[in-house]
Amino acid sequence: MIKIKSLKGVNDILPFEIGKWNHVEQQARQLFSLYEYKEIRIPIIEESALFSKSIGQETDIVEKEMYTFLDKGKRSIALRPEATASVVRAYLEHNFDQQGLVKLFYLGPMFRGEKPQSGRNRQFYQIGVEALGSYHAYLDAEVISLANAYLNMLGLKNFKIILNSVGCFSDKLKFSNLLKEYLQDKSASLCLSCQQRMQRNVLRILDCKDPTCRKIMQNAPQITKNLCNECEQHFAQVKEALTSLKLAYETNPYLVRGLDYYTKTVFEIIHFDLGAQNAISAGGRYDNLVEDLGGQPTGAIGFAFGIDRLLLACDKEKLTSIGQDKKTDVFIISLGQTASQKAFEITHDLRGKQISTYLNFEQKSLKSQMRQADKLQYRFVLILGDDELAKCSILLKDMATSNQELIKFEELVNVLKKRLINKA
Ligand code: HAM
Repeated sequence: MIKIKSLKGVNDILPFEIGKWNHVEQQARQLFSLYEYKEIRIPIIEESALFSKSIGQETDIVEKEMYTFLDKGKRSIALRPEATASVVRAYLEHNFDQQGLVKLFYLGPMFRGEKPQSGRNRQFYQIGVEALGSYHAYLDAEVISLANAYLNMLGLKNFKIILNSVGCFSDKLKFSNLLKEYLQDKSASLCLSCQQRMQRNVLRILDCKDPTCRKIMQNAPQITKNLCNECEQHFAQVKEALTSLKLAYETNPYLVRGLDYYTKTVFEIIHFDLGAQNAISAGGRYDNLVEDLGGQPTGAIGFAFGIDRLLLACDKEKLTSIGQDKKTDVFIISLGQTASQKAFEITHDLRGKQISTYLNFEQKSLKSQMRQADKLQYRFVLILGDDELAKCSILLKDMATSNQELIKFEELVNVLKKRLINKA
């Protein structure tokens, strides 16, 4: 028989790993609510047009990576490749645009058909925030400082924040033409992808990793030197505000990001210990997106962390204790048919009193069950055989000290509760 395996780039998250995932998610919930972000759960599927209109028809994500299908009504549906577009759709659909500054956060899976490698999956997970309703540079600084605070909260150190401004829509347009002029007599030497980008998305050539393209772009005009007055001022204010918060960052005039909706501030956080896929978070302003999707002009900014990469970074920095599973309190071993019936009832009672208990339904030897309890590091083992049953008692073994004592059934809950409190 053929065994069906998971798809390439689509991973199971196994019970021994889940503690870490819960930890980073729970820390995010705690911190983001301190900054007044409220959780929103957006759908996993949307009309494909939502993403082509917002991320951009000519971006890698929409053109090559989106999972789309026709539903029974012949509508084109996409698995969400990111969440910003959906959040803006929901913001407009539920009239949040009437409520001043709206701060939303989300977490969950995203889907992109990229070539899988370490830190790059086809189903990956993001935790992100979106703040809609302000053009103020302080909001940019606050959002970036929130991303930084989150990494501090997780105990990560080996990262840096990279900042740039891509200007407003007309700055981007003007700069694209400037770049095209600069590249006119050099385009034949660009990599194949960049030759295509020349026609459709020339800005993306700026952050191509191909060495020849990089060399060519070394002398290219810089977007930050071609901003309009307002965008230049905004960028200066963002930098000043970040400095006033004592936040370290680096500017990089070649950071442009692969999604078309960005205007003005863009940023990325990279982790030094990850390989090629070292961006653990990215974001920026998207002041035109609400209007592009049918709303009023609305200033907005956000970011998303890739959880898969965040956890790789935690491993690299040996933050191994994060989110370790709480050990189960008690392991019950019963020997013989009658004892196993009583053990079944005791297990039920202990769980009813909030004491986590493991019961092995299969009758195995005392030795093999003790070995299992030891290996899985249970704190207490209860042993019930005919002798104990005759005395209406159960043998309690403390696995740390190896001390054993006989406990009456009616005293068991209290004794265990006291011992567990002492050990906590
Ligand atoms: P993005 O740069 O496409 O931005 O993704 C954000 C983060 O998601 C990346 O920095 C990375 O950590 C993670 N990520 C992206 N693709 C993958 C993948 N294939 N495998 C693993 N992790 C991945 C956005 O998605 C924007 N929506 C962010 C944003 C929010 N901008 C404004 N608000």
